[in-house]
Amino acid sequence: MAPDPVVGPPDEVVDWPSARAVAALFALGDPIGPMVPVGRARSNRVFRLRTEGGTFAVKEMLDTGSAWEENLEAAWGVELRAIEAGLSIPHPVPNPDEGGPLGWVPRLGGGDDAAVRVHHWVAGTPCPRGPVTPKVARWAGGALARIHGLGVTSPDPTPYARPEPPSEEAWAEVVRAGEAAGVFWAPVLRPIGSLVAVVRERAGAAPPPPDALVVTHGSLDQSNIGLGGRGTPFLCDWDRAGLRPPAEDLAATALNLGAWMDFDVVRVALGAYGAAGGRELPLGENELAGVLARYLGRLVFNIERAIGIRPAPAEVARRSSRLVPELIDGLGLRAEVVRRIDQLLS
Ligand SMILES: Nc1ncnc2c1ncn2[C@@H]1O[C@H](COP(=O)(O)OP(=O)(O)O)[C@@H](O)[C@H]1O
Ligand SMILES: [Mg+2]
Repeated sequence: MAPDPVVGPPDEVVDWPSARAVAALFALGDPIGPMVPVGRARSNRVFRLRTEGGTFAVKEMLDTGSAWEENLEAAWGVELRAIEAGLSIPHPVPNPDEGGPLGWVPRLGGGDDAAVRVHHWVAGTPCPRGPVTPKVARWAGGALARIHGLGVTSPDPTPYARPEPPSEEAWAEVVRAGEAAGVFWAPVLRPIGSLVAVVRERAGAAPPPPDALVVTHGSLDQSNIGLGGRGTPFLCDWDRAGLRPPAEDLAATALNLGAWMDFDVVRVALGAYGAAGGRELPLGENELAGVLARYLGRLVFNIERAIGIRPAPAEVARRSSRLVPELIDGLGLRAEVVRRIDQLLS
């Protein structure tokens, strides 16, 4: 194979997946120019790749913890069902050899192979951070109702596991590791412990019965919404699709769309969910504790990456280092919103 065309800092590109190998494995045609990293990736590394066959999003799966391939296989089923139902989603390119979502390809500098997925690229812009427009909020609320109504079922709920809030031991370990790493935000972690304990208790207080869960996208919010031609929204990133309590999923989507500060936007999203056939769902403290629990899970995940106890490429660890202070900062606001949710939505 001809060498890969590469543009990027040499210490970063060395462990990128080979564009030529991705293009060959997924039968995309020869690459035209280098792969370009895409912003807004949350957990993985995403590149744009132009080839003779078109333009593609190449995602390198980074969080390859236990059972991740089974989880991805289950999530892939949800993604295909959502496409069949006509939701606005970038179309995946399956691995032609195996038919599934994943392929393994060499990295530019050798070492372990990289696990990658490929989608057709949708031209447009990422949805800006901050509260979305009423148009996007309406679209997203309606899309969530349709996803909840897909009726995907699973005989085995384990591949769709729900993210747990950090246990007492897990939080203590993170605090210890942060202090040992000497990061500047380490002293702020210990005092957050009491809030973590309250969230854990509330989120675990009334676990929803298994038959109350729905299979859903799991993170329908700005980070995964793109705005295509004439601002038409599309929804990326189905890799974490799984079983969730519907009220918690709706609360997370609506509050994130309003960036936890614009409650008109939150109400538009909730209204659109109902108008598109979504059930009336309670948005009380238990549901919102579940949302905070997931936020804390994300904080712990990024702390682990930032201080190196969860392996990640150097630039991804730096991304987490910048994100952690922002997540810590956002925690107080979210806790306050949860306390006053009835008043804020009335
Ligand atoms: N097929 C695609 N077409 C256009 N943009 C895309 C596509 N796939 C991903 N993106 C962009 O890349 C960003 C990161 O992709 P995503 O799948 O959300 O990665 P992560 O799992 O790291 O969150 C998305 O928010 C979106 O802006
Ligand atoms: Mg994403």
